[in-house]
Amino acid sequence: MTSGTRGIPANTAHWVNPLRDPRDKRLPRIAGPCGLVIFGVTGDLSRKKLMPAIYDLANRGLLPPGFALTGFARRDWDDQDFGQVVHEAVKAHARTPFRQEVWDRLAEGFRFVQGTFDDDDSFDRLKRCVRDLDRVRGTGGNHAFYLSIPPSAFPVVCKQLARSGLSAQDADQWRRVVIEKPFGHDLASAKELNAIVNDVFPEDSVFRIDHYLGKETVQNVLALRFANQLFEPIWNSHYVDHVQITMAEDIGLGGRAGYYDGIGAARDVIQNHLLQLLAFTAMEEPTSFSSDELRSEKIKVLNATKLVQPLSETTARGQYEGGWQGGELVCGLKEEEGYDPNSTTETFAAITCEIDTRRWAGVPFYLRTGKRLGRRVTEIAVIFKRAPHLPFDSTMTEELGQNALVIRVQPDEGVTMRFGSKVPGSQMEVRDVTMDFGYGTAFTEASPEAYERLILDVLLGEPSLFPVNDEVERSWEILDPVIDYWHALPEGPPPYPAGSWGPRQANEMLGRTGRTWRRP
Ligand code: BG6
Repeated sequence: MTSGTRGIPANTAHWVNPLRDPRDKRLPRIAGPCGLVIFGVTGDLSRKKLMPAIYDLANRGLLPPGFALTGFARRDWDDQDFGQVVHEAVKAHARTPFRQEVWDRLAEGFRFVQGTFDDDDSFDRLKRCVRDLDRVRGTGGNHAFYLSIPPSAFPVVCKQLARSGLSAQDADQWRRVVIEKPFGHDLASAKELNAIVNDVFPEDSVFRIDHYLGKETVQNVLALRFANQLFEPIWNSHYVDHVQITMAEDIGLGGRAGYYDGIGAARDVIQNHLLQLLAFTAMEEPTSFSSDELRSEKIKVLNATKLVQPLSETTARGQYEGGWQGGELVCGLKEEEGYDPNSTTETFAAITCEIDTRRWAGVPFYLRTGKRLGRRVTEIAVIFKRAPHLPFDSTMTEELGQNALVIRVQPDEGVTMRFGSKVPGSQMEVRDVTMDFGYGTAFTEASPEAYERLILDVLLGEPSLFPVNDEVERSWEILDPVIDYWHALPEGPPPYPAGSWGPRQANEMLGRTGRTWRRP
């Protein structure tokens, strides 16, 4: 066993304080000796999310003392320039306060390798850098490679990692690859990418990021459902009328043309985040919370998920046009910089799914997402059937809606229950009221950022919150027919004004079944 920094064995992947019972899952988990290499380190994601998350983890004492962060990019930077960029990113975006001593310790482990993806020399230099880190920082031969790069560059980087020997792992050392979405743009391309990645890294070393799974409120869906007796008995088609999963954003798409034009809302968000939220909401109880059990339940429910037909009536898409949003006059997608003025990319997408299981037969799951909508909100709303009989005069319950349980994923994280209550007074009148749980008032701890949780899980080798290749492929299989159907239509997506709740077709889609979208 080689000796690492400060007496921690260098090849211990998951360091646990021996004075505490390691089986106690409430204890903070601290990563063992390791390094992280980021490809695409000059990109937005890296500056706004990854670098700040790494600092926040260090600040919370969750990174090992010898942790190393290596940036790989074309820029003509040295280690100091890179450090300066990380410093600015941390100052601007970190969640926790800046502490000089934490920063100084972390910054000692920064390295920058200048290079390009198709250049063997660059990767040989990276290999020397990583080896050097093992020696001087005690990273123990454990390294994660974060591909924050366009999917078109995955094959070349994976091949280079294999060729240079960087991906090779010994029995007591690990090498992992972290992949950012989009993971393909349809089933065929996802399969191709999976094959390329799995050729180099075994599936248990591949960590595909769906950052929604790193959100506290999403993990809380499992706690809410499986740690309580209250909800599970009514979590089925006997009681649930339908489920609405909404991810609405008020931002526009300026500055993202390179990625977004031609991709659109369904591929950007429904294929990954929303189908994952559906899986968490609808899956059966896993026999344990091991990653295998959890993922196998998610795959089972995704396998049973299908689109409701005909797609002309059960889906809707739209594209934002100019309008007033929050007191500001904003332009439409076609006028945003870099977009094709004839772009047919949808910025709003809604689909209807059904789940062919005894639990969910006949319950529609409506999924919608859009940019430049009324406000930023993500929620899972479980809408219950009406009581089979109301022993009241009909005028007394005119104001009574359907009971609902709303998991507020963000912002204003929490859970709302909506039910009828008697209006105070001598008469009997029933009206909807809400009961609220808010993270802000119930807990003193602030929620970590999704990327803090996910990066830590990568370093710990904890795969539960990362979709496996089967899930990714199945999600494309569900979505592909919608994209094909839309692309075959002679007309592009209908417009909707910025600041509204999407196109008329979205309302018609639910209206046909006598339902309405929630206005969160
Ligand atoms: C990303 C999408 O995955 O999620 C973006 O590509 C979207 O289009 C973003 O804006 C939203 O993430 P969050 O965490 O702000 O809801």
